[in-house]
Amino acid sequence: MFGNRQIDHFKDEKGQYFKCGVAENEMSQIMKRSALGVILAVLAISPLSTMVLAQETRIAQTPPMGWSGFFPSTKSGDELIRAEADAMVSTGMKAAGYEYMNVDDCWEGGRDSLGNICPNGHYPDMKALVDYVHRKGLKFGIYSSPGLKTCAGFEGSFGHEEQDAESFAAWGVDYLKYDWCSGSGDQVAAYRRMYEALKRTGRPILYALCQYGRERGWAWGASVGGNVWRTTSDIALNGISYDDISLVGFEQNGLERFAGPGHWNDPDGLLIGQPGIDDDEARTQMSLWCLLASPLIASNDLTQMSPQTLAILTNPEVIAVNQDKAGIQGHRVAEEGPLEVWMKPLADGSKAVGLFNREGAPIPVTVSFRDAGLPESVQLRDLWARKDLGVFQRSYTATVPRHGVVMLKATGQF
Ligand code: GAL
Repeated sequence: MFGNRQIDHFKDEKGQYFKCGVAENEMSQIMKRSALGVILAVLAISPLSTMVLAQETRIAQTPPMGWSGFFPSTKSGDELIRAEADAMVSTGMKAAGYEYMNVDDCWEGGRDSLGNICPNGHYPDMKALVDYVHRKGLKFGIYSSPGLKTCAGFEGSFGHEEQDAESFAAWGVDYLKYDWCSGSGDQVAAYRRMYEALKRTGRPILYALCQYGRERGWAWGASVGGNVWRTTSDIALNGISYDDISLVGFEQNGLERFAGPGHWNDPDGLLIGQPGIDDDEARTQMSLWCLLASPLIASNDLTQMSPQTLAILTNPEVIAVNQDKAGIQGHRVAEEGPLEVWMKPLADGSKAVGLFNREGAPIPVTVSFRDAGLPESVQLRDLWARKDLGVFQRSYTATVPRHGVVMLKATGQF
């Protein structure tokens, strides 16, 4: 199904380009330099495995935050990523914690005579683009597949895992989304192969598995070095709507035991700011993804965001729930028809609570403090309104808008 997808505005009308971001002689210099680095590291007493592990443990201690270029835009390629990186900084998204600029599929050209992966004509100089993103204080994400072809039919990494990992490291890539697409055979072995290749480069690269949760990917994702793994098929597979947010987001319950610092469940990107998603629906996705400790990967055009979209993506009190140091994924604590209450324990002993209404009209939703594991008397703060609500006994009720949410921080009174 995915393999047939074509994204027309990325199509390279002139055919494949074989212009590598790193020239062959530069590549061999880089490889020589990294070989020297490894020798020096070994001589410096630190065993190689210890050195690499120390790097790994720094990655994704809280869920990654960033932006992805997967969704169609008026711009493409190098021009798109630069414009969005500029906007990431100028809008305040970076200051709010978003850092990864992720090129998704469709950047690949073919391979040069040595088998090195080359970007297509939309990315004339990948290294220069990565440097540009880095100069903005941001990180750079790239995309590939364990198969021969990516989902959009471009060059995959099959049989070239080591070489591609070297290219990514040489360009300065910080994040790899590795998308199963045309992959075949043993998924665990295929994902482990690329992980080993990334590790050998010595560069800390966040490893994002994308195999849509097949074969319970969440159960083995961390064992193959995954820092995040998709738990679902594409969130916007049938177009962008609240139904996608609702169906994907609320079905995440039960996966919480697989998530923690360095390794997170990923129910796919944020649709906030996309046409077809209103502000209540956007607040629902943001609240739920924060309660789920999911990656926060925006997908909207940051250069043309409304003030409301920006406010929803950057509310510091809601983001703090997502980025909480304890790294505990929340879960559902009560459900009645279209009404759901979710809770996420936080490092300071307080709890974040979401009151959700999946119905098409406003409805009062009650959280029983006992259901949410809270004491009888609780102090509440409304995280979207950013105001203290006072102290409540045993329960709290709020009227929740259609497709909307009320998100609370609950602190016990002792
Ligand atoms: C899908 C993947 C999407 C996107 C797309 C690119 O398989 O789930 O997130 O990366 O491929 O072609």
